[in-house]
Amino acid sequence: MIIAIDGPTASGKGTIAKRVAAHYGFHLLDTGLLYRAVARAVLDVGQSLEDSEAATTCARKLDFGALDESRLRTREIGDAASVVSAYPGVRQALFEGQRLFAQKKPGAVLDGRDIGTVICPEAEAKLFITASSEIRAHRRWLELVKLDPALSEESILADIRRRDERDSNRSNAPLKIADDARLLDTSLMDIETASREALRLIEASLSRQG
Ligand code: DC
Repeated sequence: MIIAIDGPTASGKGTIAKRVAAHYGFHLLDTGLLYRAVARAVLDVGQSLEDSEAATTCARKLDFGALDESRLRTREIGDAASVVSAYPGVRQALFEGQRLFAQKKPGAVLDGRDIGTVICPEAEAKLFITASSEIRAHRRWLELVKLDPALSEESILADIRRRDERDSNRSNAPLKIADDARLLDTSLMDIETASREALRLIEASLSRQG
């Protein structure tokens, strides 16, 4: 059983994917972490993010079992991940590992940008989770301002718009809603309501198939 959860940054999809995986007792893969780890590795070996060959080499060597979240969940690495994720070689290098993960028993939840469209088009349930860019920026700002009180909400909104633009307009596996995905707009929902709604939509998809 595969559940695909896609959507833009700060839509709530990460938290929702965690809750969905816990609800069903499924394995969870946050595929954004893979692209973040590739970006981190490129910088760690002193290469440029513009060097697609170096990024592809790092992607081929990536160990899915050794992702150090604390070094990957920064604003800078998120932006760098958006750059390396546009390289076809990087996406290809990460494809097989994601496919293998998706076959885990009793089931797997994968969250990202292209799970329902490219990685697991056969997924039994697909959600596309979104929210307005202003709301997403506000949520991200609330998280980050604790660490950096000088941070402005406008700068976060500019980051989010730049990432959305890059992720949606790349030629390879762009962020877009799969034809058979169910759309969940969390703009006016708190995370509890959004998670409940996500489970309801997944149940509706599964019962349609059963
Ligand atoms: O979800 P995130 O913010 O951790 O993702 C970081 C970047 O990785 C995002 O800007 C685009 C890229 N990404 C991708 O291209 N495909 C995925 N399946 C997941 C993330």
